[in-house]
Amino acid sequence: MYVCLCKAVTQQQIEQAVEQGDSYAQIRQKLGVGTDCGCCGQSAKQMVREHISRMPPCEFAVAS
Ligand code: FES
Repeated sequence: MYVCLCKAVTQQQIEQAVEQGDSYAQIRQKLGVGTDCGCCGQSAKQMVREHISRMPPCEFAVAS
C-alpha cells in the first residue's frame, strides 16, 4: 500500500526502515516521506509508532 503518493513510498518500505532502526526523521530524509505536499506526514508517523510497538523488545535491553 502506498503511504506517500508524491514520493511513491509504500508501507513496506517504511516498516523495513523501522526494522533497520530508522526514526521517522531518518525515514523522512531517506525516502522523502512528507517532504512534498505533506499530506502523508501524520499517517507515516503513526505507522512508524505502530510498527515500533509491534516489534519484539531488544534482547540486549532485556538482559541488562
Ligand atoms: S503524499 Fe507524501 S509528500 Fe505528498
